[in-house]
Amino acid sequence: MPSSRWTTWAWMLLLSGCAMGWPKQSSSATSDIRNCTTSPPFLPPTVTDTSAQLNALRQRMQFYNISAYIVPATDAHMSEYIAERDARLAWISGFTGSAGTGVVTTKKAALWTDSRYWTQAERQMDCNWELQKIVWTDSIGEWLLQEIPAGENIGLDPFLFSIDLWNSYAHVLQGSSRTLVPIEDNLVDLVWGTQRPPSPTSKIYLLPETFTG
Ligand SMILES: *[C@@H]1O[C@H](CO)[C@@H](O)[C@H](O)[C@H]1NC(C)=O
Ligand SMILES: *[C@@H]1O[C@H](CO)[C@@H](O)[C@H](O)[C@H]1NC(C)=O
Repeated sequence: MPSSRWTTWAWMLLLSGCAMGWPKQSSSATSDIRNCTTSPPFLPPTVTDTSAQLNALRQRMQFYNISAYIVPATDAHMSEYIAERDARLAWISGFTGSAGTGVVTTKKAALWTDSRYWTQAERQMDCNWELQKIVWTDSIGEWLLQEIPAGENIGLDPFLFSIDLWNSYAHVLQGSSRTLVPIEDNLVDLVWGTQRPPSPTSKIYLLPETFTG
């Protein structure tokens, strides 16, 4: 009977409301992802405040005369699972997923990652960062074209990009009078400074042929 079903619903609502502390807490307190549209923004405790990191990085960018800096999640071996010392994207953005690309401009910061990581990104990033959900390099390039005025430079650490990836970015920017500039000093590392974790010291071992084929 519909009426008894409604009674059941009402009870469930009330009970779950009580379980979540309702009505004493605001509705945002029951959410574990950020909400940057409220004022002030709602940030769950899992978020990293990246304001200081971004300010410091932007100062370095100014020194190197670049208007955007691209930060990949990979290390210099293009590995997806990396040492803490190489977790530059995590340090600058708060996002610890294994795949993604960050771009920091003088005013904005954006992170591209695939659908596996959207919720995690919304739990870990503060409102300095926007989440971009289309992960093709072309879409990063087009965003750069939108954000960076003609005549300005876009920097990256050449050790962290494959030739193919470099070419993809160069291709989108070609003829746009924005220049892709390789900077051998990693700007995130410069800002990270002495806080940057040391290299791992665990022993290297050979994988037996049974695993490698
Ligand atoms: C953020 O908060 C606004 C205003 O309360 C609400 O309309 C919106 O749905 C919320 N967004 C998310 C992702 O929770
Ligand atoms: C910064 O880069 C732009 C674009 O390449 C160039 O025109 C300008 O002279 C550079 N400024 C300095 C201070 O190097």
